Amino acid sequence: MHTLIGKRIVLGVTGGISAYKAAFLVRLLRKNGANVRVVMTQSATKFVAPLTFQALSEKPVHTELLDLNTETAMGHIELAKWADLILIAPASANFIARYANGFAEDLLSTLCLATGSPVIIAPAMNQQMWRNQATQENLEKINARGITVVGPTAGVQACGDDGPGRMLEPEEIVTYAGNIFQTNILTGSRLLVTAGPTREAIDPVRFLSNRSSGRMGYAVATAAAEAGADVTLISGPVDLAAIGIEKVVYVTSAKEMQESVMQRINNIDIFISAAAVADYSAQKISEQKIKKSDDTFELIMQKNPDILAEVSALYDAPFTVGFAAETENLELNAQTKLHLKNLDMIAANQVDKKLGIDCDENALTIFWKTGREKLPLAPKNKLARSLIKLIALQYNEKNSNKTH
Ligand code: C5P
Repeated sequence: MHTLIGKRIVLGVTGGISAYKAAFLVRLLRKNGANVRVVMTQSATKFVAPLTFQALSEKPVHTELLDLNTETAMGHIELAKWADLILIAPASANFIARYANGFAEDLLSTLCLATGSPVIIAPAMNQQMWRNQATQENLEKINARGITVVGPTAGVQACGDDGPGRMLEPEEIVTYAGNIFQTNILTGSRLLVTAGPTREAIDPVRFLSNRSSGRMGYAVATAAAEAGADVTLISGPVDLAAIGIEKVVYVTSAKEMQESVMQRINNIDIFISAAAVADYSAQKISEQKIKKSDDTFELIMQKNPDILAEVSALYDAPFTVGFAAETENLELNAQTKLHLKNLDMIAANQVDKKLGIDCDENALTIFWKTGREKLPLAPKNKLARSLIKLIALQYNEKNSNKTH
């Protein structure tokens, strides 16, 4: 299941005999490409040793809320922010009661309160405990908050009873986990995304380029595909795998990127320009390798086409989204680009030595004509999902205004 590739999953294991099945779950999640960190409650450690999960996840297992060692490595708030998904399997009656009532006295329930990411719980308990009105009322509360509850199924239980309360099988839980990222908010729309740097040749062996890794553009393309869109990614030279995207076109120079975009733009609903397109290219590319001679070397550059501006100026332009990487005056520069390039949206980020380009994390401020939203520092794939949500909202609003 490609929706799990690269996803960061906190697997919460609570006390119950099905805790042993959570060991298979770790293997399956990892097999599907997820990064897994296991958090165990104290009673879970009585059923399965933390070492089992440590060996299977190849990461330290978290059991304490305030442990000096783990807090310095990855504290509970960082862990909550790190997670793309918190999956609790098995979820005991006790855990469900704590979660339903907002307790934060142990690590797992605290993580559930501290995360902005989706939570899935897979209950497992004795059938009478499951049927108990208290448990059912707690589940109602949890359901009302939009938390996904998967299972349980009915059958013979470890205690010998027969009835509802068996945890779903790991394979089924993994399917639910993958589906949680499949939001379908852009189903039916066709997207074109550009990503990565461009390279502008100066002779047969040399080129000018920039530090863009392409990670943000690739994450946006993947998030759009997960949102159900038909995505084409036009990529400059990068060292990345396109996850969940079937149509990828590789280009090198700004001119090639422009041609590739313009060939495809007619059928496109949303154009997201995340590429760091070179602004200038050599006026003349030397046919032979340029020889070292004088102390100084002059290169005459000419302006490249602005692909984004060209797209937004089309008669039947798609919904256009640009990026603005700025080292100063972030808001002013972003707002100016939004208006000058006549964009529907712009995602602006501050670039400095540590942030923005060629790194895993970023912070964005998104501007559109009538609003803005700040997306605080987060891994790029998380940011990309938030950005796609905002784009879907604004795109649908623009379309509904058109039809009214
Ligand atoms: O004006 P500036 O280059 O800062 O604008 C950045 C935005 O414009 C990005 O979305 C980038 O992909 C796009 N762009 C472009 N063609 C260029 C230069 C930038 O599409 N030649």
